[in-house]
Amino acid sequence: MGIFYDESNRLFFIETPNTTMCLAVVDDEGFLNNAYYGAKAGRDDLTYLLGGKDNPAVPSRNDRDRGCYFDKARLEFPSGGTGDYRSPAVCVRDAQGHDSSLFTYVSYRIYDGKDEIHTPAGEGRTVRMPATFAGESSAQTLEIELDEKVLGLKAFLSYSVFEDSDAILKSVRMVNVSDNTVIIDKLLSSNLDIDLAAFGNHEPDIVTLSGSWARERRMDRRRISRGTTEVYSTRGESSHQFQPFSALCEQGTDDSGGKVYAQTLIWSGNFVCGAGMDQFETVRSYIGISPEHFTWDLKPGETFQTPEAVLVFTEDGFDGMSHIFHDLFRGHLIRSPYLYKDRPVLINNWEATYFNFNTDKLLDIAREAKKCGIEMLVMDDGWFGKRDDDNSSLGDWFVNEKKLPGGIGRLSDELEKMGMKFGIWFEPEMISPDSDLYRAHPDWAISSPGRIPTRIRNQYVLDITRSEVRDYVYECVAGILRSAKISYVKWDMNRQLADLGSTGLDAASMGRLSYLYTLGVYDLQERLLAEFPDLLLENCSGGGARYDAGMLFFSPQIWCSDDTDAYERLTIQAGTEMIYPLSTMGAHVSASPNHISGRVMPFDVRGAVALSGTFGYELDITMIPGDERESIPEQVEIYHSIGSIVREGDYYRIARVSDMELYDAWMSVTKDKERALLTYVQCKGSPQNNKRTIRLKGLDPDMKYSLKLIGSDDENSRFCSRGKKDAWKVLAPDGPVSGRSLMNAGLMIPVIWGEYGQVMIELTSEA
Ligand code: DGJ
Repeated sequence: MGIFYDESNRLFFIETPNTTMCLAVVDDEGFLNNAYYGAKAGRDDLTYLLGGKDNPAVPSRNDRDRGCYFDKARLEFPSGGTGDYRSPAVCVRDAQGHDSSLFTYVSYRIYDGKDEIHTPAGEGRTVRMPATFAGESSAQTLEIELDEKVLGLKAFLSYSVFEDSDAILKSVRMVNVSDNTVIIDKLLSSNLDIDLAAFGNHEPDIVTLSGSWARERRMDRRRISRGTTEVYSTRGESSHQFQPFSALCEQGTDDSGGKVYAQTLIWSGNFVCGAGMDQFETVRSYIGISPEHFTWDLKPGETFQTPEAVLVFTEDGFDGMSHIFHDLFRGHLIRSPYLYKDRPVLINNWEATYFNFNTDKLLDIAREAKKCGIEMLVMDDGWFGKRDDDNSSLGDWFVNEKKLPGGIGRLSDELEKMGMKFGIWFEPEMISPDSDLYRAHPDWAISSPGRIPTRIRNQYVLDITRSEVRDYVYECVAGILRSAKISYVKWDMNRQLADLGSTGLDAASMGRLSYLYTLGVYDLQERLLAEFPDLLLENCSGGGARYDAGMLFFSPQIWCSDDTDAYERLTIQAGTEMIYPLSTMGAHVSASPNHISGRVMPFDVRGAVALSGTFGYELDITMIPGDERESIPEQVEIYHSIGSIVREGDYYRIARVSDMELYDAWMSVTKDKERALLTYVQCKGSPQNNKRTIRLKGLDPDMKYSLKLIGSDDENSRFCSRGKKDAWKVLAPDGPVSGRSLMNAGLMIPVIWGEYGQVMIELTSEA
């Protein structure tokens, strides 16, 4: 790992353990090109890949075709309006409206470590942006200074690497060194021009994750051709609809192998992410803040900072890509003290009661939960103001004494006596039109004068770009936390931004609103964690609409989806796990029939699916059938016994039900390969004489593993007319088996009578 500058050839080598990125300063004017990015290369003079030192096409030799050069070169920071007609990474404009620009090389700086990113947030303040940090490992950073001489702008491109990661972190800082305001219309975090040779000179595929409410992060795969494929959010959050993520891969790449160029953004607001192929078959891949609903009036002396992009290259397919993202986020992004801790198993009352609860009901649930080994009660929406449904009271964060006589203090005391932890739900960024807060401060809602306000879930968004609004919001949340023993907060956000207008911004700065809104969220959560460092924070947005790397900087877990149907969750979770560690994924067992889909599912299957995330329950434990309740202590015990494998291990995808209908299967394997967990979920019945062998992954070929069936009810007659343990006895290997056999020859899985069933096998290496 390291960053090296070859002065005689003006080449930068940005190296991770297994990859190389080579940037070249080209021609006398100093155009920054990307000569190469991919598997480790030598520190050779790679300028030949850009046409060589005597390249006759460069502008100093061929000024009559300057535009042709820009339209073809692999540019690292392409700007608009000077001859590159592809999608630019930067668009800036002067006061007269001239919008062409060209950034050229000035200098560089290489330093050990990685600086925090602090960005101006208005009112003379700065906010710390979520970004990776070196942690325990060593890091190096390259900062390249570029100049836009006509406009008087400087762009500082930053590249960081860590000794233990194959990711490259990129961001851009723009400084106005002129005497005039310059408007930024677009400034992306990363642009990457890739030679088609990287994909075997065939058109690559692009994988993105898309969905909607209760259908988040489904894998989409399509071929890239001439033109552009793009995903985006203009909703003020990363969104249900698309993830700030794409993975370009050579045709035929699958979970187990193939070249992948992936990118994501450490940001929770509007974004754009895409790739396209140009007339010369160069692939341009890019990611950053969406230019829609965005302009930034950069005044003399001011700085604008982009969020950080994460670039990953691997030859090991999507599993390899996930390992790099997971390790990076666990080792260099998630700051929470809970990251590697066993999290308390919680029970949340949302699907149990919705708004219809009181202290007695919550205590009944808690009492029953406690008997089953559950450790924390989370009180969801509906405890404040006069909120008996979702039509009122957001902003009025006072306890509803009719529902909770004696307030939150009494409830938390009772829970403490019972030996249960207590968690609480907030939706701090919102305001209901029917609330005391709105009646007192209608101007605190984001709105556009003269326009019928766009209500979504009958609520407006608070203008947390304003400090007095932020302070009010903060005090509401902190005041409640100060008043009782609260271990956990679920921070929800249930609508998107619209009618973008703030009374705190003048006409010239109104285009800053979306960016400042996201900084407002970060500012609030940073303050909360500074005052309550032991708080376990779970982010949420109508399910998983703000499941992104930005939020992971603040919370170690995020509610994955409002769809708690275990079958649906297989696909939602598989998509989530492409990027995010399993330890970040809030996953709960809910009632059957499922409240969203009506699907009926065995309790053990619901458990197995939820056990691959941050585990909990979302049901009325006092009402579920007795046999289900009796299964809970074993599930809780399993969560604690296998928790560290799932939290800290490497994740391998064996099968995706979205590809092949019959079953879904995945594994977690500890880093030392001594322990592993296989989860197999059958999704379609088939004749019982049908065999099903699956091949395991990620084990040490030379270790011998003993296999233990866990989470299975012996009485369960759904297995080949026998108990599952009996069925397993027939199929299980007689003694320990080598990792080599389990991976190359495989393992027989009992076929389950009926539609859905699960098999969980814990593997432990024999000393
Ligand atoms: C959306 C969340 O995803 C749910 O879990 C629940 O907290 C509701 N909001 C409450 O309004």
